[in-house]
Amino acid sequence: MQGGAGKGREVVRVDQASRGFVLGRTKLLPVPLCPEISIHVASDVTAVWEESELWAGQEGLPPPFWAFCWPGGQALARWVLDSPSELAGRHVLDFGSGCGLVAIAAARSGACQVTAVDIDPLAAAAMELNAGVNGVFFEILEEDLIGRPASWDVVLAADVLYEKRLAEPLLDWLKSLVCQGVLVVISDPGRAYLPTLGLRRLATYTVPTSLDLEDARQRETSIYALEA
Ligand SMILES: C[S@@+](CC[C@H](N)C(=O)[O-])C[C@H]1O[C@@H](n2cnc3c(N)ncnc32)[C@H](O)[C@@H]1O
Repeated sequence: MQGGAGKGREVVRVDQASRGFVLGRTKLLPVPLCPEISIHVASDVTAVWEESELWAGQEGLPPPFWAFCWPGGQALARWVLDSPSELAGRHVLDFGSGCGLVAIAAARSGACQVTAVDIDPLAAAAMELNAGVNGVFFEILEEDLIGRPASWDVVLAADVLYEKRLAEPLLDWLKSLVCQGVLVVISDPGRAYLPTLGLRRLATYTVPTSLDLEDARQRETSIYALEA
């Protein structure tokens, strides 16, 4: 196991029921663009979405992002695995981690400490399970960190620019982290709120995806360093 302990934040304790929910609705499969990592993924987004709402006793929940490897996550995990010198010895935050794929890649790439954060409680269960089957450990947080001062050397953000109410405050915060000396790396397949300025492209991947998720069998996805 790899990874490290947190710095005073409340690390998530995943309960057995959440673990069981994730395991009961997913299959462990290699990630198309990163076959050295396997992730618990679902096959039908609508079915898992409906079951999540029933399970939580709440309507109008966001989609079960944790049950899939999004194009942004696949591309960023590939970049991280192929660029270990960028993360070696550094404290890395994976923001909006979902299934935890990017955090797993970071833990495999020599980061001295990895933290993964998501606001969806089932994401924490998925991350913990996926970390375990891939033989890595990282700190899991379930909170909104937007606005907090920098306590990481590198922030990775994959496929998180899909809605305005998240993208606007998130980009302001990420730019403030860059001004504090943090390396912020964004991975995006052309979502609506990707900025047109202030990004330096580092790599582009053709990412296999599914018609169910993306209305396309593959998505061109680029990795960018955010500039101040
Ligand atoms: C499209 S998914 C991407 C997941 C993963 N990064 C990937 O590429 O596979 C976006 C994720 O951002 C999370 N999210 C949304 N708002 C957030 C916030 N304020 N803080 C942390 N995570 C957030 C969602 O719950 C979801 O898991």
